[in-house]
Amino acid sequence: MKTSIINNAASASPVKPMVNMGQGFFGYNPPEFLLDAAKNALNRVDANQYSPSKGRMSLRKAIAQHYSGPLERPLNPETEVTISTGANEGILSAFMAFVEDGDEVIVFEPFFDQYISNIEMAGGKVRYVPLIPPPNGNKETSCAGDWLINMDALMQAFSPNTRMLVLNSPHNPIGKVFTEQELGAIAELCVQHNTIIIADDVYDSLTYVSSKRMATISPAIWDLTLTVGSVGKTFYATGWRVGFLIGPSHLIQYVSAAHMRICYSSPSPLQEACAAGYIIAAQNGFWEKSKKSLIGKIERFCTVFDELGLPYSSPQGGYFVLANFSKVQIPDGYEFPAKVACRPRDFKMAWFLIMELGVAAIPPSEFYLEENWHVADDYLRFAVCKEDQILEDAKERLRGLKKYIKS
Ligand SMILES: Cc1ncc(COP(=O)(O)O)c(C=O)c1O
Repeated sequence: MKTSIINNAASASPVKPMVNMGQGFFGYNPPEFLLDAAKNALNRVDANQYSPSKGRMSLRKAIAQHYSGPLERPLNPETEVTISTGANEGILSAFMAFVEDGDEVIVFEPFFDQYISNIEMAGGKVRYVPLIPPPNGNKETSCAGDWLINMDALMQAFSPNTRMLVLNSPHNPIGKVFTEQELGAIAELCVQHNTIIIADDVYDSLTYVSSKRMATISPAIWDLTLTVGSVGKTFYATGWRVGFLIGPSHLIQYVSAAHMRICYSSPSPLQEACAAGYIIAAQNGFWEKSKKSLIGKIERFCTVFDELGLPYSSPQGGYFVLANFSKVQIPDGYEFPAKVACRPRDFKMAWFLIMELGVAAIPPSEFYLEENWHVADDYLRFAVCKEDQILEDAKERLRGLKKYIKS
């Protein structure tokens, strides 16, 4: 993967230790109640053995309970919820379940890179639909919601071979939460073309604007939609690899069957811990605290861009911030190794930040096809799910950009 160049740069940088704002892993532990639940589960004989492929009933029940509100219907934990080994494996299971050789899957660009290989592994062909950046994004701070769907491209992307569509909201890397109107427009086309929707909602617990779920748009859309979640994102435990899909039983049964072939079942003690986690979180205000904490981190971190006069795209959800570096001038003649020199500007900027300031960020061209690398190459993606001190360290280092900023 291309980001490995960035990771290698981080170890080669003269500035140590690196302040890593790149990958979206948490810089702090899951809540104490989740860790305690995991320790308790490890002491249980049954919780150390195989789980059913569909997942442990305790977790399926907890998820059914938690999501019946947002999905506006009672959920049957037996038939409408299935557990996966992280959201990524759940999404792969869905592609394996429904995509046949030559089928097409519509994906919005920029995209979470794992979708692509997962679709291609199932024999599918990806049809890309651009999200258009805000036109003044390099001049002024904008809202992540200002990235808009190219509706003409979306309409043209559908063909008789369209089998599935993937929609990620809140979106990685943009932080956009799709509006009800946007969901409605996508939904209409999917119903017309009988297209199964993967609503990748892995950042749903960190949604900062009012929003609606794709699965609730209409009864016809419920019948076509698989809502995907990640307990790793929700409880700051990305390494636990617990995810899930919710949807009508006629879709969920095939996802469970594919998941059974791929990995049989998911880790039992962590499923038990997550089940307890949902129940406790409903009682101790964790959901509100979690949102407040991440909003606080976004605000804390973005002050440095306000100070520097660098515009950014203010997220409506999740924990990524896209900052616009068009005003930052890399000195003429700055030497890049050949593997970086051939990359777009964002990649060079990421390299420059690592080498000169010791701050790692992700170049968004990683989320684009090569022919579209230029679309967002003024931006860099920063993950703010880090300790406040790390955010302060990153800010202090980023202040070193002042001398490179054109007025
Ligand atoms: C948009 C999106 N979907 C899915 C995933 C995968 O989640 P998990 O870690 O639960 O597999 C990620 C992780 O970064 C993501 O950003």
